[in-house]
Amino acid sequence: MGHSRLFIPGPVEVSPDVLDAMSVPMIGHRTSDFSDLFNSAVGKLGKVMMTDCVCLISASSGSGFMEAAIRNCVRDKVLNTICGAFSSKWHDIAARCGKETGKVEVDWGMAVKPDMVRKKLEDGGYDAVCVTHNETTTGVSNPVEDISKVIARYPDTLLFVDAVSSLGGMKVDTDRLGIDFCLSSSQKALGLPPGISVAAVSDDAFDRAEGIEGRGYYFDILELKKMHAKGMTPYTPSISHIKALDVQLGRILSEGIENRFFRHARLADISRKWAIGKGFEIFAEKGYESDTVTCITNTLGVDLKKMQSMMAERGYGMDAGYRKLNDKLVAEGKPTTFRIAHMGDMTADDLRDFLDALDEVLAKMEVA
Ligand SMILES: Cc1ncc(COP(=O)(O)O)c(C=O)c1O
Repeated sequence: MGHSRLFIPGPVEVSPDVLDAMSVPMIGHRTSDFSDLFNSAVGKLGKVMMTDCVCLISASSGSGFMEAAIRNCVRDKVLNTICGAFSSKWHDIAARCGKETGKVEVDWGMAVKPDMVRKKLEDGGYDAVCVTHNETTTGVSNPVEDISKVIARYPDTLLFVDAVSSLGGMKVDTDRLGIDFCLSSSQKALGLPPGISVAAVSDDAFDRAEGIEGRGYYFDILELKKMHAKGMTPYTPSISHIKALDVQLGRILSEGIENRFFRHARLADISRKWAIGKGFEIFAEKGYESDTVTCITNTLGVDLKKMQSMMAERGYGMDAGYRKLNDKLVAEGKPTTFRIAHMGDMTADDLRDFLDALDEVLAKMEVA
């Protein structure tokens, strides 16, 4: 099977050095070699997550840490800010963990605004607020910094941030924003294979966990913290992934995180200009467009499945729209969407090659 270059919003292309790092012989996870590796990886992770907090690594995808934040740090009630499928999923997770949930909900494609959160917090009693930094379904980047200022006025309310599709591509200023539980997955802007997730957890979040029963076992952050102090995890970690993480974080730090944010912003700009130049529209609310994924309104009525399969014939893996979003739009009589992801180690040349191929496909389809 030939390799399709991925322009989907995760998994993304992974650099050969990182793939090589995964295919080295195993080491025991209770050895000093492993602790050296673990400490090296979490040290670099702190720099990329812009935090002095404890950085945890889990052999699960990001959804695991979404559940961990709820189970460990919500006593009774959590406020979910909802603007797409992944922020809805966090609400669902909280409800299934038996927590009382409040909602701030905006139309998919719009961003959550600080005033909406402020009004809701006035009801009182929220143990935490969940914010999705980058809603991958809609290509919206929520104003986490402004929202964090509202939450800072409620000292007993923790801030949880899903940085799954932003970390490694957009600034996630964990400590400055006072984020108590910041989580991300490996397979997106960090540019790693799927299979692990990371989280920076504040002292306040650990203190909260001390008083909470029903934290479970696998995602008990107090167990994770205890073993973290020894450079280990409570159970067998995915050693190959941690090796890859250590190598990739080294690559990210050598690129320079500010340079990396700048590169992603430039890729986003190229994508948006391409879409508008073709006669499409950008789905995300103006001023809140993501730098890692562009969601495009299919105003030209392109057959998205056909476009996807013609791009596959040219060796490109592309998105034909997020199904739940498109089903919703069809039901509302609105045009559907598709997404171009520009995250990880992608260069402007990679993106231009992809867009050239897409131009050729659209010309063949006689739509643009
Ligand atoms: C914003 C966001 N949050 C959460 C998730 C879930 O992450 P995972 O699939 O790593 O569990 C995703 C996955 O695409 C996502 O994009």
